[in-house]
Order: sequence, then structure tokens, then C-alpha cells
Amino acid sequence: MKELSSSYGRVFIGSKDECFRTAVFLAEGQRGRNPAKRHFTWALTGGSTPQEWYEWCVAKDALSPVTVATAHWFVSDERYVRPDSHESNFGNADRLLLKPLGIAADRKHPWSTNIAPGLAAVEFGRMNAPWFGRDRTFDVCFLGMGDDGHTASLFPGSPLLRDDGKQFFAAIDVPGKGWRLTVTPSGLKAAGLIVVMALGAGKAGALHRVLAGESDPMRTPSQVLKNCRDKVVWLVDEAAAAKFLQG
Ligand code: 6PG
Repeated sequence: MKELSSSYGRVFIGSKDECFRTAVFLAEGQRGRNPAKRHFTWALTGGSTPQEWYEWCVAKDALSPVTVATAHWFVSDERYVRPDSHESNFGNADRLLLKPLGIAADRKHPWSTNIAPGLAAVEFGRMNAPWFGRDRTFDVCFLGMGDDGHTASLFPGSPLLRDDGKQFFAAIDVPGKGWRLTVTPSGLKAAGLIVVMALGAGKAGALHRVLAGESDPMRTPSQVLKNCRDKVVWLVDEAAAAKFLQG
């Protein structure tokens, strides 16, 4: 893959298959980096790209037996819907990846969507603290990026981009989309490794705006990753990178 550096993290450009394989390679590497830590935590994310990646992982038997046997699973953000909804990020991860891999229930950590959203965000941090460890959120946090430049559930204009009160997780009522539960900018800073997958021509404009545009995270939320660029890796295919590479 081609590798470039940017103010928002390292950028790897290659085919979709290379992006999928590198996502596994990076996460597996992160698991091996800190053997003294008691638990390895991996947050997946929502949208169509991860769903394709889940099916690829299962078909290729891509995850190591150690990861399958020991990792604790989360999603970086969640829609406030029932887990059996096809809108549920954890629900989709469970149906397409965790169930086919036979992951035990005690290593699956969905957000609660049957209690008030504000409470669900507090509970997510409190209940999962034993897995995360001190001042840490996920060891590996996967993210996607929308064509409006959003990432996780940090949408343009989100008050969490201005001030998240140093909380790692929050509930936010997104105009036109309803309640979301999400890792915050502070929570991203407290992650071990952040992998952003952006695939397809539909992402070309947003990727160009993030990496080469004026710095304005309120309008282009993925730019919050500048604050933790040392641990951010972008995996983008040629179609998504096209506009950025043209300059
Ligand atoms: C969600 C995600 C969101 C997603 C992007 C990219 O719940 O939708 O948290 O941030 O990752 O919108 O989605 P695609 O992979 O569908 O482009």
C-alpha cells in the first residue's frame, strides 16, 4: 500500500482487499503490543463498510485464534434502537461477525438502548471501566467517515466537538437522526489505536476536505483526529483517495 503522512494521522492507500487485511493486521498488532494489560478491547463501528468487512473476515477466517478467544467487543457509537434492528451497530456486528465466530456473551459489550440515553452513556463508561483500564477507552477503535465528514456519531455542528466535558462517552440528540450514543473527542484521545476505513468514490470529497481543507472540526468532524494523530491510521481505497491525490 502507498503510505502518506498527514496532520490527521498516517494514510494508507490501496485496494479494498488491502484495506481490509491491513485493518486486521493493525488490530492484531495492537493486541500483541501490551501483553501485560489484562484485557484487549476492540470497538467496531457502524455503516456499510464494516458490514462488508465483517463478512470478509468470516469468509477469510482472518482473525487470529487468540483474538477470537480473548478480545472484548464494543462499538464506538450506537443508534438508539433495539439490538435486533438492522440499524443497530452492535446488532450488525453481532449478526455478521461475533455470532459466526462463536464469541461468548461475556465478551460482548453493547451500549444499553433500553434505558434513557444519558444514563446509557454513563453506564457504558462505568460498566466497562474494568475492561478498559485507567484513563483508557478502547485498545483499538474502528471508525468510519460519512460523506459530510462525520465520524462515530460526531456530526457537523455537534456540541461535543466544542466541549465534551472531558467525558469519554456521551449521548447526543442529532437533529434529524435521533439519539446516538458515542465515544467523544476525549474518548478518542484515550483510545490505543484508531483505524478509520473510508472506501469508495462517495468518500473522495470528504476525505479531501479532512486532509487538505481548512481546519474546522465543527464543520468537518473527522478533523478532531488531529488531536490524537499519532495513533490514527486511515485506510482508504484508490477511489476515496482520488481527489486528495489530485491535490
Ligand atoms: C454509523 C457510524 C458512522 C459511519 C459512517 C460511514 O453508525 O453510521 O458510526 O460514523 O461509520 O457514516 O458509514 P459507511 O461505512 O456506510 O460509509
